[in-house]
Amino acid sequence: MAEIVIKNVAKSFGSFKALHSVDMTISNQEFMVLLGASGCGKTTLLRIIAGLETPTQGEVWIGGRRVDHLPPRQRGIAMVFQNYAVFPHLTVFENIAFGLRMQKMDKAEVERRVTRTAELMHIEQLLKRYSGQLSGGQRQRVAVARALAMEPDVILMDEPLSNLDALLRLEMRAELKGVLADSKTTTIYVTHDQVEAMSLADRISVMNGGRIVQSDSPVEVYRNPAARFVGSFIGNPPMNFMEAKRTGTGRWRVGGIEIDGPQADRGTLEFAIRPEDVTRAEAGFAATARVVEPLGAHTLVTCEVGGKPFRAIIDSDDPIAPGDTMTLAPQPARVRWFDPETQTAISA
Ligand SMILES: Nc1ncnc2c1ncn2[C@@H]1O[C@H](COP(=O)(O)OP(=O)(O)O)[C@@H](O)[C@H]1O
Ligand SMILES: [Mg+2]
Repeated sequence: MAEIVIKNVAKSFGSFKALHSVDMTISNQEFMVLLGASGCGKTTLLRIIAGLETPTQGEVWIGGRRVDHLPPRQRGIAMVFQNYAVFPHLTVFENIAFGLRMQKMDKAEVERRVTRTAELMHIEQLLKRYSGQLSGGQRQRVAVARALAMEPDVILMDEPLSNLDALLRLEMRAELKGVLADSKTTTIYVTHDQVEAMSLADRISVMNGGRIVQSDSPVEVYRNPAARFVGSFIGNPPMNFMEAKRTGTGRWRVGGIEIDGPQADRGTLEFAIRPEDVTRAEAGFAATARVVEPLGAHTLVTCEVGGKPFRAIIDSDDPIAPGDTMTLAPQPARVRWFDPETQTAISA
């Protein structure tokens, strides 16, 4: 059992606040992804959980035990970093065995664990090689095998795939997902890559400026962003936002048309729609195509609506050229609304 509970954790570096009061619970065996842009505090939070950094305030609990005063090795965790941290002058076997030897584990058990995790990561044929001779992808496999060999309650991974090329990243992503699900280890995985986050996570915690802005399933984070930031960060391309002016109770004027919306007693709100959630129709936003990007399965069109850029994803069979005009109707069920002051979601 290794539930992780983070209570009111904050971290300052001098006068700079890297984390503002973070509260988070990661269930036993859950795969939690911390997602956010570079500099938002992901690594700092992970290092606090690992015990490599001391929080300025707050508590960290792992498996029902308060651990924030314990050294890393007493926390039952293993960590995998972006830069592998594999020792080049040791063989793959010795790299995987490293943590086990530190624990003075008996030889037969070390042998068993190294062999098993090497097989899991498909590097059993490399065990005698020196790690310095391996490719980046192979070294990262060694790093993951070393973490798994510890049979930890918790695995923490900090952008483990970001140094790999795109194809390898895709392959390792699918493999990691399988291996970690089988290992039933509680996992916290840090990335700035939203596609990686969506594909791996049971739950995504989206971070911005040292705060967690939303913790939800990938689908929920995508469909129902709790804050404008989430809608603007997740999705490639992200949501379109437009200013909406109130014309009556529950009626809003946006992009030159009038639609139903929240009953909010406000002069303006922010209307949001994903590029794939508009369709060409008789009535809707008057749009002029500016840039047309055929992406195979569909076409991404950057248009202008009311003088502002607006992205639409349309069927690739639909002929469209720069300068063409079209009418784009937002799918009513997919429209989202945000309060322009608090930047948080408002229900329609
Ligand atoms: N040891 C440190 N001293 C001073 N500032 C730091 C230190 N570690 C991190 N920071 C700052 O804290 C912020 C968050 O950093 P980090 O947690 O590494 O972000 P992320 O992993 O999301 O890119 C950044 O602005 C970074 O410059
Ligand atoms: Mg980082």
